[in-house]
Amino acid sequence: MTIDAPAHQQMAADRHHYLITGGVPLHGHVQASGAKNAVTKQLVATLLTDQPCVLHGVPRIVEVNLVLAMLAELGTEVTWLDDHTVRVHTPEVTGPSLSEAYSGVNRIPILMMGPLLHRCGETVVPLPGGCTIGKRPIDFHLQGLRQMGADIAEQLLAVKVRADRLTGAHIALPFPSVGATENLILAAVLAKGTTVITNAAVEPEVIDTILMLQKMGALVSVDTDRTITIEGVAALRGVQHHVIADRIEIASLAAAAVITDGRIEIAGARQEHLMSFINKLRRMGGEFSETDSGLAFWRDRPLTAIDIETGVHPGFMTDWQQPLVVALTQAAGTSVVHETIYEDRFGYTSQLRAMGATVNLTTQCLGATACRFHNADFDHTAKVTGPSPLQAADLTIPDLRAGFGYVLAALVATGTSRISGTRYLERGYEDPVGKLRAVGARIETVSA
Ligand code: EPZ
Repeated sequence: MTIDAPAHQQMAADRHHYLITGGVPLHGHVQASGAKNAVTKQLVATLLTDQPCVLHGVPRIVEVNLVLAMLAELGTEVTWLDDHTVRVHTPEVTGPSLSEAYSGVNRIPILMMGPLLHRCGETVVPLPGGCTIGKRPIDFHLQGLRQMGADIAEQLLAVKVRADRLTGAHIALPFPSVGATENLILAAVLAKGTTVITNAAVEPEVIDTILMLQKMGALVSVDTDRTITIEGVAALRGVQHHVIADRIEIASLAAAAVITDGRIEIAGARQEHLMSFINKLRRMGGEFSETDSGLAFWRDRPLTAIDIETGVHPGFMTDWQQPLVVALTQAAGTSVVHETIYEDRFGYTSQLRAMGATVNLTTQCLGATACRFHNADFDHTAKVTGPSPLQAADLTIPDLRAGFGYVLAALVATGTSRISGTRYLERGYEDPVGKLRAVGARIETVSA
């Protein structure tokens, strides 16, 4: 992928729109890419050492380019060794802060606080801002770092942080936040003393980053009760690490096989990262098998309604919700989907309704548990009744995961849909057009 604009402007506009003609069962073989939500954190982790680090299986996505540009601003030397292998080396942090241009761009700069404090003693990092799926505050991140001794001043678009030396602390997270867990681990590995994080997130991407840190010399242990203990060490060394496969991309492609009544084999897919997804897929009529290189997915019988409740790992992840909601529009009966991670993650369903789907939202918790959004005014449960024939439409992608949901809807709709907002999709999925074409999708790009 070639991108000429400065990194922070890469999100400004679509490079192209998609035209998708539905009704074709998808058959074939694709390669899973490395996980966006692991590699972006692992690139940050490389700041913890002055030695070179090499990451393999790096997806060529806008989000990776953005993080590499941020690192370059801090003084990192970046070299692509081949298509999916990047060497990053920060012998010296030449400037300890990131420019405000990155404010609101993504959630990565806030993860740099720990590494930059260790390298420079102070930093100013831009704030991530809210987004279309919810407010996404960073209070757990800041509270944890304060407990470790950081002096933090919150500004309008940035956070200013100082610490002569971070020290270990006992941090009880109010909710198992992925980002806060990663942030505190990145701060704790070089801190003085031991940090204990309870109610921590243990998503496979978090564990993959812990494995990389262990190879760098860190002392981290993960208990079965979501407690992560980090003994600070004096220094970390360079590392070679292979990024875990993207279980969100894999589930999205599996949903494409099932919704179009085709069969897709995904090299690099691993069952242990997909257990709760596979259970739901199978209950609604999908099936899978292990292959020499990964997993294959297909539809085993006519699709039927199921109930889903999103949750923290090992539960059903919130980023699998959108592809399965779209698939459930083609299932007989009424499905109930209770979103417990983000308060506002069903906005995308309004455009599905315009295509003919029957999706009703409610503020009630209709799952097994009353979640954090109980008694609040958030439409966080969806009732999906099907099967509904979908008609092609002009769709505008509001966020990354909803984007693949719209692609799925277009793949099963009658007629040709035009999808704009593709910049959101291409932020996190590597070559989605090429991969879908490889399995027979009728998808074209047209100039935006
Ligand atoms: C990560 O976001 C992922 N993003 C998300 O994927 C993913 O949906 C999410 O984890 C959950 O698995 C990246 O890894 C870059 P959280 P993160 O902190 O870390 C609340 C995608 O499309 N919270 O686990 O930001 C928060 O509002 C994205 O790839 C606080 O209240 O998620 C949310 O309700 C979308 N205060 C919940 O916790 C805090 O300080 C979980 O958020 C932090 C979080």
